[in-house]
Amino acid sequence: MPHRSVTIPQLHQWKGQGRLITMLTAWDYLLAKLLDRAGIDVILVGDSLGMVALGYDTTLPVTLDQMVHHAQAVRRGVESALLVCDLPFLSYHASPQQALGSAGRLLKEAGVQAVKMEGATPGVLAATELLVQSGIPVLGHVGLTPQMIHSFGSLRQQGKTPETAEKILAGAIALERAGAFGIILEHIPASLAQTISQKLQIPTIGIGAGHDCDGQVLVTADLLGLTTQPPPFAPIYAELGGAIATAVQAYCQDVQQRKFSPLT
Ligand code: KIV
Repeated sequence: MPHRSVTIPQLHQWKGQGRLITMLTAWDYLLAKLLDRAGIDVILVGDSLGMVALGYDTTLPVTLDQMVHHAQAVRRGVESALLVCDLPFLSYHASPQQALGSAGRLLKEAGVQAVKMEGATPGVLAATELLVQSGIPVLGHVGLTPQMIHSFGSLRQQGKTPETAEKILAGAIALERAGAFGIILEHIPASLAQTISQKLQIPTIGIGAGHDCDGQVLVTADLLGLTTQPPPFAPIYAELGGAIATAVQAYCQDVQQRKFSPLT
């Protein structure tokens, strides 16, 4: 894989050229290095790490300190991919100034190149404008936004009625106007994702949003078969959970039978 550093202007160029963007999540050094070496375009330190790496039921308990800690580890493993990090729940909702302080920590202390915020409320749009004006690129996220789980009531598909679809489209357009460099479209109908992708100049990156986005993202633990309950839209490319169990059982058996001796 030739060495290259992925930049935000390149993502915009790729949209024009029809070259699709690949994005995956990472939460530690080892995984980040594997993804980067495999040639992924964008690595997201997603707050889904709260569920896949920290064992929480939702993303809500994740703190900014935890995101900084994980992003620092991921940064050490990434050479080429563009590195984006989630702002966790309530680290950007109080005011644009709070968002600036939180995002600033991720850039200064962890070396990420952009941040992601969920939703398109007036508060998030104002925060997006301030961050972008301050030199902090922002990735938007509309559709199913897991930090709103208690308002949605579940992690079900969003945008199924004409009214909710219109609201998601309007949110995506507003985020583009506020200066977002791209937008995640999560768990919305494929036809809505296609409409949004056609209307926006900036790239859309889908997760459970059909094939017509400008790129795709997945939670890497789902892709690798490491999660017990992956979302219905997540394809599984490897069964590493089963492979790890088999390896550990073989090791335990060897130890019990005195077959395992690392020094001989
Ligand atoms: O937290 C996360 O991993 C995400 C992706 C699902 C886009 O936001």
